[in-house]
Amino acid sequence: MVNHISFLLVFFLCVTSSNAAKIVPVNMICERVKNPSFCSNLLYSKSGADLITLAQYTIDVVRANMTNTVNLINTLIASSHSLNALSHYKLCLKVFVNDGGALFVLENVQRVLKEGNYQLMNVGANDIMTDINNCINDPTFQDTSSLSKSAGDVLQADQVIQTLSTFLLSDN
Ligand SMILES: *[C@@H]1O[C@H](CO)[C@@H](O)[C@H](O)[C@H]1NC(C)=O
Repeated sequence: MVNHISFLLVFFLCVTSSNAAKIVPVNMICERVKNPSFCSNLLYSKSGADLITLAQYTIDVVRANMTNTVNLINTLIASSHSLNALSHYKLCLKVFVNDGGALFVLENVQRVLKEGNYQLMNVGANDIMTDINNCINDPTFQDTSSLSKSAGDVLQADQVIQTLSTFLLSDN
């Protein structure tokens, strides 16, 4: 009986500690995304950190990328004269700042990471990708501004969050 209990205790401690500090090499994470070199550059400085630390770091990068992108969109709106361009940039602005838009979803992703709900983290990261794709792939306007690159950075960094959530999930 004593053996049985200590076995369970050791088992429990192993499971909880492996969840708390699971480490996956950056190259294994980055081979799963569309642009592995973007991912490696992004995570390089955090190599060796556990998955949760990487996820927190990437969320912070995406938040900063989104803020820069929103500033850029506002500049483009202020300087655009064609109606097509204006309606495209306004669509993109909505995608980021609307209630339920990408910035809003990112704060949910932040909250569920803290709660350990990696399933919802995955859903949120996917929602953000859909939002940003609606801006980048707007069929009504051929955008030649730097917004495509800026929104593309958000998309690629968000894909890293999505991939980290699948590693965190597979660990449960
Ligand atoms: C997004 O963040 C990465 C990493 O900090 C940076 O290299 C890139 O320039 C940023 N892009 C934008 C649009 O802020």
